[in-house]
Amino acid sequence: MTAYLNGQFLPLAEARISPLDRGFLYADGAYEVIPVYSRHPFRIDEHLRRLQQSLDGIRMANPRSDAEWKTIVGRLVAEAGFEDQAIYIQITRGADDKRDPCFPPGVPPTVFLFAAPLLRPGAEQRERGVAAITAPDLRWGRCDLKTVALLPNVLARQTAADAGCAETIMFRDGYLTEGSSTNVFAVRDGVILAPPQDHLILPGVTCNVVLELAAAHRAPLDVRPIREEEVRAADELWLTSSAKEVLAVVMLDGRPVGRGPQAGRPGPVTRRMHEWFCAFRDEVMRHGRG
Ligand code: PDD
Repeated sequence: MTAYLNGQFLPLAEARISPLDRGFLYADGAYEVIPVYSRHPFRIDEHLRRLQQSLDGIRMANPRSDAEWKTIVGRLVAEAGFEDQAIYIQITRGADDKRDPCFPPGVPPTVFLFAAPLLRPGAEQRERGVAAITAPDLRWGRCDLKTVALLPNVLARQTAADAGCAETIMFRDGYLTEGSSTNVFAVRDGVILAPPQDHLILPGVTCNVVLELAAAHRAPLDVRPIREEEVRAADELWLTSSAKEVLAVVMLDGRPVGRGPQAGRPGPVTRRMHEWFCAFRDEVMRHGRG
């Protein structure tokens, strides 16, 4: 598998960084994950814009122009041995010759990219939906920045995996934030509910596609703080992310989501949104841009 490290393309297994890299010592860095379908990056401009916002938020200069990022991504996409990919980009504040929290002057950033297969949900998960658990959101106050400080996300995800679930949905001060690596939508009485994109959640690129699709199809949509009780009483819940796309949550903390005969099964609004998403994705890919 080919990787890119600090200006060089090389086999991933040969890529090496210093143990003094600030990404390793302090999680002092930002990242992106760009989905690629049939070798076409999806919404790359939006991902590069969010990368810029993350770098601005942690006071790092962007080491490449958008054109340079696209050239690097383009070569990795072309060289990968699979069609559907997840391009991982990570930039850290580089490796100093000592361990000191203050920004090291004159140290170049570490720039690392590689292409992995895009791990989309299987047919069964898609058809039946997935189970999730809930937990308090223990992260910092800038969850809008996509930084590599992911330990709370990792722990939340492992807790879900230990419970045989796909995701942990988090609440802060009684309100829905997001999943450990997904945005969360709820549906109540036919209205799609989404939390506002403030400092407490990542502005997901997939989430924004879904918000655009809801507007384009005139689906009832309410973007506002969502109380924990509303999530627990929702008719439908779904997750979005670059890898999961639109994925129904049908069990929450061991209880079926929804009411009546459709409880515990992907609901009609979720199914429709997934269809809109697939149609939109296929359409933009056919025209060679995302
Ligand atoms: N995660 N919220 C969090 C905390 C995330 O980490 C992600 C993405 C999302 C969804 O964002 P998007 O739709 O832009 O992928 C929401 C990526 C995929 C990851 O960490 O691997």
